[in-house]
Amino acid sequence: MDKTTKRQMKLSLFLTGDGNYHMAGWRLPGSKTDGGQNIERWVEAAQAIERAKLHMLFIADAASPPGTDDLETLSLTSRIDRMDPVPILAAVSMVTKNLGLASTMTTTYLEPYNLARSVASLDHISGGRAAWNIVTGSNKDDALQFNRDSHVPHAERYERAEEFVDVVRGIWDSYDDDAFPRDKESGVYMDPKKVHLLNHTGKYFKVRGPSAVPRSPQGHPVLIQAGSSEPGMNISARVADVVFTSQQVLKNAQDFYNNLKGRCANYGRKPEDLLVMPGALLFLGETESEAKEKFDQLNSLIPLRVAMQRLSANLGGIDLSKFDLDAPMPDIKVNDARVSAVESYIAISRREGLTLRQMAMRSAAAKHHWTLVGSVKQVADELEEWFTNGAADGFNILPSDMPGAVTMLTTKLVPELQRRGLFQTEYAGKTLRENLGLRRPADLSTRQRAL
Ligand SMILES: Cc1cc2nc3c(=O)[nH]c(=O)nc-3n(C[C@H](O)[C@H](O)[C@H](O)COP(=O)(O)O)c2cc1C
Repeated sequence: MDKTTKRQMKLSLFLTGDGNYHMAGWRLPGSKTDGGQNIERWVEAAQAIERAKLHMLFIADAASPPGTDDLETLSLTSRIDRMDPVPILAAVSMVTKNLGLASTMTTTYLEPYNLARSVASLDHISGGRAAWNIVTGSNKDDALQFNRDSHVPHAERYERAEEFVDVVRGIWDSYDDDAFPRDKESGVYMDPKKVHLLNHTGKYFKVRGPSAVPRSPQGHPVLIQAGSSEPGMNISARVADVVFTSQQVLKNAQDFYNNLKGRCANYGRKPEDLLVMPGALLFLGETESEAKEKFDQLNSLIPLRVAMQRLSANLGGIDLSKFDLDAPMPDIKVNDARVSAVESYIAISRREGLTLRQMAMRSAAAKHHWTLVGSVKQVADELEEWFTNGAADGFNILPSDMPGAVTMLTTKLVPELQRRGLFQTEYAGKTLRENLGLRRPADLSTRQRAL
């Protein structure tokens, strides 16, 4: 098949906090330690991945640093270092042209009107490159910043999320595309017939509208969803354009892919309306042994107490101190905070026969993400296998450290994927929707006329 007509993968770079996904990434000799606040670091990473033609820079987020009940342990990590993603992406948008800009924002503690306004603003500023990663929040400590003592229960979080997303989309539909003639001659700035008041009254929100921001270039900025539980998959099938998920085994990833795409019909959508992009944490070397050496070096820099705190936080705040470190990972009841994540941790520990200590180290290195340690060719082979065997439409790449892992990605792995015809050598369009091959939703008047 001709290289240009071959199905090609979508790629996103996953950054959070100071950019180092591995807990010890910041301690590598080549890592910069000012990554969290120095906007130049974000700009460098964004420009590097744009040169490599990646589709999107994605910023994962939690409103509060996780693990603040043990500041001694938290002080040994870079996880306390986390700026607000939207201003970062607005700054990055000024020095990039094609790169998609995705911010994580929680439906559990924010208000939909503010979020709709903020993401629409980013879409205008960037010329149509904004995306919102809808999360119900995996960090229980977020609750402590928003008038509560504990995290909102899982089922309630998703019920609120469903209504939240509808309000956001309704606010984005406040105006038709041509609602602002801004005609100096007649003095008419806006056409009142092209304004739609939402008048929403639901269980959680009462929002009248209209938005303070005219309809943005993409109409609706791209919607990403990253929860993989039953209610998470349902909201994905109903509204998401892109789904992030953490899968470790090809067969399970294929099942997830088919299950999710199969649910789209329940909501009048086609399987291709939604792109599935599993996370892939890469430890790349020129050779396999170089990659393994880097992985081992990084792991040796994680203090055990940090690993234990991370595992506890990743399991939703479970007290692990009563368990034997060197016995098999205990059976933990699925905790409310992170339903699908807890299931993944238990599955990994059973599949690989890990002790609690080993699972804690694994969690600090990679959480529950698919972890690839190998040469550029080996990693490209694995990504190709998932991509061509119905498990993924692309990948959300997690760099272990900054800038080392990003440099390996952009200068070694991407060229290898391009050589195989599996990845683009040019952007397809200007907006993120165009680049991802996603439809732009018509404005409300056009949709109503089509009924
Ligand atoms: C690739 C990926 C990225 C995620 N990013 C975030 C994030 O930035 N912030 C967050 O609170 N949760 C994040 N999550 C977790 C969730 O989206 C979700 O809210 C949480 O896991 C609970 O939902 P679930 O049980 O449906 O998975 C992410 C999950 C995945 C797979």
